Amino acid sequence: MTERYYLWTVGCQMNKADSEKLAAGFDRMGLKATEHIERADIVVLNTCSVRQHAEDRAYSKLGRVKELKKERPALKVALMGCMVGLKTDDLEKRFPQVDVFARPQQYGGIVELVQGKAEDLGGEFWPTTHAIPDGPCAYVPVVHGCNKFCTYCIVPYRRGREKSRPVDEIVREVAYLTAHGVREVTLLGQTVEAYGHDLAEQPDLGDLMRELSALERLQRIRFLTSYPKDMTPRILEAVAALPKVMECFSLPVQAGSDAVLESMRRGYTKAEYLAKIAEVRTLMPSAGITTDIIVGYPGETEADFEESCDVLRDLRFDKVHVAAYSPRPGTIAFRKMEDDVPAAVKAARLHRVEEIEATISAEINATYLGTIQDVLIEGVRKDQPFGRTRTGKLVHLDVPARVGSLIDVRIDSAGPFSLRGTPADALVLA
Ligand code: SAH
Ligand code: SF4
Ligand code: F3S
Repeated sequence: MTERYYLWTVGCQMNKADSEKLAAGFDRMGLKATEHIERADIVVLNTCSVRQHAEDRAYSKLGRVKELKKERPALKVALMGCMVGLKTDDLEKRFPQVDVFARPQQYGGIVELVQGKAEDLGGEFWPTTHAIPDGPCAYVPVVHGCNKFCTYCIVPYRRGREKSRPVDEIVREVAYLTAHGVREVTLLGQTVEAYGHDLAEQPDLGDLMRELSALERLQRIRFLTSYPKDMTPRILEAVAALPKVMECFSLPVQAGSDAVLESMRRGYTKAEYLAKIAEVRTLMPSAGITTDIIVGYPGETEADFEESCDVLRDLRFDKVHVAAYSPRPGTIAFRKMEDDVPAAVKAARLHRVEEIEATISAEINATYLGTIQDVLIEGVRKDQPFGRTRTGKLVHLDVPARVGSLIDVRIDSAGPFSLRGTPADALVLA
């Protein structure tokens, strides 16, 4: 009988992309996907370690798996992703229900578990057959790992050093995706502008974008996550000049106070960050810009926190992802700094940021009212098509529209999180 696999994924887009690769490999081996863990012969949990909360979700899944394994000892279980470090003895002790631990993109052990023998994995980016895309948008990792070692962050320890994929390999993958209906790709990297530094020809992200722009069926190129120091004028000029590249930036600031930025080893000052945003906005006045902020980092005073709030009010981001500092064993901050901001203070600061941001996002979104926006229809939820503007705003439609089409939409209403509109064609017909 065909074996069924249950693949559970948390974490960032990088993890989602890894899961899609694994699913493509499983499909190629003739396995079938199931959404019901109870019906699975193989369970794979693709985990995230960025905050304790993400790990807790995996622990609760692992509890369920333990029960299932008791009932069915033949169940095969793999734990993959960022919870798995170089050494696995501790994990092995804590989770005897797991058969195989696999670091991000190290699919070998999982393949062996499933089919009893390892296969030629075709290098780092196995499986060589790409995932069959299930919609018009796809994630494409272009640079793996991170070299930055911000003090709070576990990512470099789990995903290793920066490693770029060759331009031609990415172009082939995107050509394949567009032949299967993809119209928009999001190029992924922890610091995506680091792309190419480690390749012989030293292409930069702009060069890659130029190559991809030549693919006829590809309509949109997005990219994340940006890192202020790696974002060169050359890359910004490419983003501004290439019509298929969206003027949409995910540019984490993390903190507004120089003392905290320095302690985090972010590698820039507040003034340098402000200058980078000014550079973006001079070239692309309508650019959508989102950011990430950590509140309650060790030693963050009330005055430091106020500086983060000032940055939000001064720069007026389209969206802010805010997180309370969560100590991560193995990181520099964990080893050297006390987690000294009380949980209640962290929660209050988080709430303040959310409040400030809800007002600003609503005000920015209101400026879209009555405008006509280019929207790529990504899917349909509860009978309503949805898609995004060039600047990354989510738009819902009340009338049907074809998934994968790029249409003009008049924006009729706006809230803090999304917009609502009518296709221009429907207006003509009305
Ligand atoms: N490469 C990106 C972000 C990677 S992690 C960057 O340089 O910003 C994604 C987000 O998780 C970060 O932006 C940060 O805001 C948050 N994060 C990372 N480590 C964290 C920690 N220990 N506690 C709380 N939030 C954290
Ligand atoms: Fe983590 Fe910093 Fe690298 Fe981002 S740049 S992944 S926050 S170490
Ligand atoms: Fe992503 Fe979480 Fe790993 S954010 S890189 S899956 S720690």
